[in-house]
Parts: sequence; C-alpha cells; structure tokens
Amino acid sequence: MFSRGALRTAANRVRSVPAAPFLGSPLTRTCLEPTRRAVAGQSIEARRFVSAYGYQQAKALVYSQYGEPKDVLKLHKHSIAPPHGSQVTLRLLTAPLNPADINQIQGVYPSKPPFDSTLGTGEPSAVAGNEGAFEVIATGSDVKNLKKGDWVIMKRTGQGTWRTHAQMEESKLIKVDKEGLTPLQVGTVSVNPVTAYRMIKDFCNWDWLRAGEEWLIQNGANSGVGRAAIQLAREWGIKTLNVVRDRPTPEETEALKKDLYELGATAVVSESELLSGGSFKEYVNELTRKGKEPIRLGLNCVGGKNATALAKTLAPGSQLVTYGAMSKQPVALPSGLLIFKDLVFSGFWVSKWGDKHPELKEDTINDVLRLTRAGKFKDIPVQEVKWTFDKGETELAEEVNGTLGGFRSGKGVFVYEE
Ligand SMILES: NC(=O)c1ccc[n+]([C@@H]2O[C@H](COP(=O)([O-])OP(=O)(O)OC[C@H]3O[C@@H](n4cnc5c(N)ncnc54)[C@H](OP(=O)(O)O)[C@@H]3O)[C@@H](O)[C@H]2O)c1
Repeated sequence: MFSRGALRTAANRVRSVPAAPFLGSPLTRTCLEPTRRAVAGQSIEARRFVSAYGYQQAKALVYSQYGEPKDVLKLHKHSIAPPHGSQVTLRLLTAPLNPADINQIQGVYPSKPPFDSTLGTGEPSAVAGNEGAFEVIATGSDVKNLKKGDWVIMKRTGQGTWRTHAQMEESKLIKVDKEGLTPLQVGTVSVNPVTAYRMIKDFCNWDWLRAGEEWLIQNGANSGVGRAAIQLAREWGIKTLNVVRDRPTPEETEALKKDLYELGATAVVSESELLSGGSFKEYVNELTRKGKEPIRLGLNCVGGKNATALAKTLAPGSQLVTYGAMSKQPVALPSGLLIFKDLVFSGFWVSKWGDKHPELKEDTINDVLRLTRAGKFKDIPVQEVKWTFDKGETELAEEVNGTLGGFRSGKGVFVYEE
C-alpha cells in the first residue's frame, strides 16, 4: 500500500513522462512531439510554454482505489491538447454530487468506470462523477453538430464529470439547447428527473381518463428524484402521497412538508406518521375515498420498514419500484401482499435503462427541459460548491464526503468558476 505522499510523487513522475499527460489518439501525440519534449523538461516556464500553444490546463478529481472520498480522491492536474478529428474540448459548468457518485468511489456501486492512465495519473485511475453540464470551448475539424459556446451533457454515466475540463468524442455527448436554461438545470437533468419520469411512465398503466383520481406514493420525497416525481405527477394529473423523514423539530418537519406542497404534492406525511399503524391506515382510507382513488404505484428509495409500509397502501395489482436504498435496510415484504394483493415488486436503474434506450433518454431529457423552460419544473435546492482552478484537493474531497449525510438543505453541486 502506498502512502498518499508516495502516490503524489509517483503521479508527478508520470506527469513528466512525455506521452502520458495528453488526451487523444496516437496521431495527436505525434503532432505534438516538440511540446511534449518541453513538458519532459519539467521547468515551469516549459509548462507555461505548452499552454501558450493551445493546451488547456485541467484538473480532475480522480481515484485509483475504492474507499471514502476524503481518503481516495486526488486532484490531478494535466494538460489537454487542442482537439482534432471528432474531439471536443469542454469546460465544466456544473456537476452534482449524487449519492451514486459516492457509492461508485466507495466501490459498492455496480457500475465501475475502468481505471486507466489516459490522464497521466501515477496509477491507473477513473475520474469521479457521472452527471454534469459542460460548455464547448474547442472542436476538432470533423465535429459536425457542436460549436464553441454550446452546452452539452454526457450521453452515458461513467464518463467522469468532476473535472474542470475534459476532452471527449462528439458521439459521447448530448447537445442541449441552452435557451432559457441555467447551468444548474442542465447539469442535473439527466439522472434524477429521468429516473422519476421513467418510473412513473413505465411502471404503471395509468388510466388517463381518470386524471386526478389515481395516486402514487413515495418515500425520500424531498430527494432530487422525489421532487421530480412530485412535479411530473402534478403535470400528468396523478396525485402524490409523499413521505419525508422527521426533522429534529416539528416546525422543521412542517417547513419541509410546506416546501413539497409548494412543488405540487397532494399530501405529505412524515416517516413517523407513515409508521403509526392504524391511524395512518385511516388517513389513507380517507385520502383515497376508501380506495375509490387507488394508489397504483409506489416509489421506494429508502427500504426497510418504510418500504413495507408503502407497499401496504398499494391497491391490488399495483407495483412498488425500488430505485434506492438510502436506509441500507433490505426490503421485507409480507407474503400476503404477494398472494392476496398480487403486488409486483421491481427495480429500476436509470444507467442501464439509458444505455438501452439512448434516443428515448434524450427525448425524456428534452421533455423535462421543456417543462423547466415553461416554469413547470423547479430547481432542486442546492449547496453550491464553488470550484476555482486554485481550489485544493482536501477542500474539494471534504465537500464530496458530506454528500451521503442525511438532512441536507440541498444537493451538493460543483459550480466551476474560471
Ligand atoms: N436507480 C436509479 O436509477 C437511481 C437514479 C437516481 C437516484 N437514485 C437513488 O435515489 C436515491 C436518492 O437520490 P437523489 O440524488 O435523488 O438524492 P438526494 O437529492 O441527494 O437526496 C438524498 C435523499 O436521501 C434521503 N436519505 C439520506 N439518508 C437517509 C437514510 N439514512 N434513510 C432514509 N433516507 C435517507 C434524504 O432524506 P433526508 O433529507 O431526510 O436526509 C433525501 O431524501 C439514492 O439512493 C440514489 O442512489 C437511483
């Protein structure tokens, strides 16, 4: 096992190896031979000289082993050569810190970006982050649909977004019409809203003639996915019964409920109310006019007792979709729900879905952005993490580490300022 200092020394050594620091194909490397020699010379002047020849200085949060972000994330500085062919050079606008990003760094997430040495890191590494909005700052001569100033998002997860600059193939990017949108809205559109959208559309055969008479129930309702689900359901005439965790004081819980009512939630209850047994059953009975307005879909991102209680409210033949496991408790199901109510229990993973349905994913994103432009889809609350080029590794990694803590006032989002 290497110490951190040893790793950094190793990284510095590799940065001085000619071919390593540059993205791009062997052709690029051949063209850039004189510049590489300048880098190999290692003087600071030489590096500046490289920049003057069109190289973009960049920093990326990378990891070469799994663990807690504060222990394994390293800020890696490198240079990006001018783009050629179908390459596009990008500058970060915003990138959220989603729970899945942390799980990926911890090594407990099923998709694991491969570790490689493309960026010239001391050890093969992956760039952290899966979602984000970038601005195009340069394009290769074969790039067809992108130009300087355009905004893009990643076509797939796992492309690494926690970096000030990147260079990618045009085919790996989705162009976004930025008209009327903010970097935050674009940088957070492709994971949570798409997850909510697809779960509501694809896991229930809603009777659209009964708009306003059917319900969905969800926990984690104040999460990014939960907030998206509330707003989409409101737009589509589906009532929502939303569960949030109790805050330290009743006033804070009420304030959170009010926040979700303002987004369009039909009903909001706290977890303690959900788990109160008979009185919650009565409440649901009244809410749904004794089941005349059925709860036809459950969205579960918590698990444990909370998920069981959600399932018990579902009308016969309905579906509980699990998409997260924030409590780390398994989903336990009374057999009666399967035998007598014919409930279906399934799961959804937007990464896999998106890889299978790339065009539908783009359409879904565009539909959410259409609603956003129309003022019908509100921004999630965020805690901005300003990333300036001189910001240090420890500071950035500590911000990331806080992401999985509960009761946050907003999602952490990197906002890059040049
Ligand atoms: N399957 C998929 O395709 C997919 C896609 C997107 C997201 N997700 C998953 O969905 C979940 C929410 O993601 P997000 O980005 O929307 O989250 P987010 O905006 O960062 O919010 C986190 C949510 O998790 C709750 N939470 C945190 N710790 C908890 C705990 N110990 N027990 C119960 N709830 C807890 C928070 O509630 P408090 O405010 O009460 O702490 C909050 O509602 C995550 O598990 C994520 O991995 C899955």
